[in-house]
Formats: sequence, C-alpha cells, structure tokens
Amino acid sequence: MNKGLRRPIIAGNWKMYKTVKEGEELVNGLKRELYKVTDVDVVVCPPFTLLVNISDMLLETNIGLGAQDTFWEEEGAYTGEVSAKMLKDAGCQYVIIGHSERRQFFDETDESVNKKIFAALKNALTPIVCVGENLSEREKGIAFDVIKKQLDGGFKGVSEVDIEKIVIAYEPVWAIGTGKVATPEQAQEAHKYIRGWLSKAYGTDIACKIRIQYGGSVKPDNIKGLMANEDIDGALVGGASLKVETFTAIVMNSR
Ligand code: PGA
Repeated sequence: MNKGLRRPIIAGNWKMYKTVKEGEELVNGLKRELYKVTDVDVVVCPPFTLLVNISDMLLETNIGLGAQDTFWEEEGAYTGEVSAKMLKDAGCQYVIIGHSERRQFFDETDESVNKKIFAALKNALTPIVCVGENLSEREKGIAFDVIKKQLDGGFKGVSEVDIEKIVIAYEPVWAIGTGKVATPEQAQEAHKYIRGWLSKAYGTDIACKIRIQYGGSVKPDNIKGLMANEDIDGALVGGASLKVETFTAIVMNSR
C-alpha cells in the first residue's frame, strides 16, 4: 500500500549494553560512516545513563536519539522511573514503548503501554510501539489475535492526528536475540495484518502513512529481503546495532 509515502526508519535498541565511553565510541563510528545518509531515518536508543552525552554528540547530525522506555507520570515520588518530559529534556526525539522484554520481565501490559504512548505524545516524542507474539502463540495459530489485542489495548483512545506520529515495530518474540529471523513472507503477512488493523481503525489514507518496522535478529544479510516487502518500512535492531560495521551495513542495505 503506497510504500513510497513512508520513509524507511532503522533504529538500534542497545538494550542494557554499553558504558558511556563504549557508547560514545559507537556513536562516533556511526557519525563517520552514516553522515551521507539522507534517505533513511537512523535512530539509536542507548540506556538512560548515556542519553545526555549522546544527545550532545548527535546535535546537527542526521542520527536521531531514542530511549528504551518511559514512565507515564510527568514527575513525582516514583523511585527509579524516568518521565517522558525528562527524556525530551535529555534530547530524545523517540521512545520505545512495550518492548517484549518489558512485557516479559517487567509486567508491561497493554494498559501501561497505552498510558506511556499518551505521555510520549504529550512531550512531542515519537513512540516506537512494539507488538508481537511468542512461539507458543504462533504455534497455536493465534499470532494475529495476540497482535490485535496489543493494538486494541495499546492504541485505545489515540486520535487520527496522533496515530500518524507513531511508529509500530512488529517483533515476534521467538525471533528476538535467537538468530531465528522471521521469513520475509512471515514478516510481511504480519505487517499487512497490522496495516489492515490501522485501515479499519483510522482509514486507508492514514494507514498508508504509518511506518511499521520489523524486529528480531535483523542482520546485514537479511535486511534487504525484509525491506523488499510492501509493508515493511524499516527495522528495530538489537544485537547487530551494537557494532559500527553491522549497524552501518543494515542502514546501507535497507535502501
Ligand atoms: P535482536 O533484538 O535484533 O537482537 O533480535 C531486536 C529487539 O529486541 O528489538
């Protein structure tokens, strides 16, 4: 559905990796290798402790900055949490919300995803909202039911104006960090389902504009095959985003 309307977006989710010094080395390498790239949105999502330094390093570059999570309240007695307002203040433009590791290990629910989306939007951050089924759900043939529930709950009350500001990441849990990438056909089928859901909820014109990334063992040698599909608009990259060579190659091969 009109892929030309959607600019590719490749984001690196560093997860809980990199000290300040290591992160700065990685960003220096990416700036060196990627400064000429103007046709893809490139984003890095380091841990909270690196955001301020890296934001300074990325000023006036073509690389965007995102956080890996946020809390929904603006401020208050919430020990250990970081608000969307604080992320904006630290220099972020993006925030990952509802990553499967948050859902699996930190009790993230569709309701908390929903509140976080509103907090991000209020602070002019682009939410990268993750959805995806696990292995047993895929094997039972209920993958799309699971995705539908995540979309229904996560985007509850999100307006037509706001949905256009959102990026969705389809990340089948069985493909994350396992080396088992979904085949381009499996990924396309799920992306098409998600775009169909968007069409039903918001109309085709809006659904055509929303970018849907694939995530799960994306590597330099499989990105091309994924990007060749009509509804795959980019990637959320974990392991392969931690090295200059592999993340650069993924960005280059996505074009
Ligand atoms: P992976 O992680 O690329 O290491 O599979 C992707 C993700 O969790 O976003």
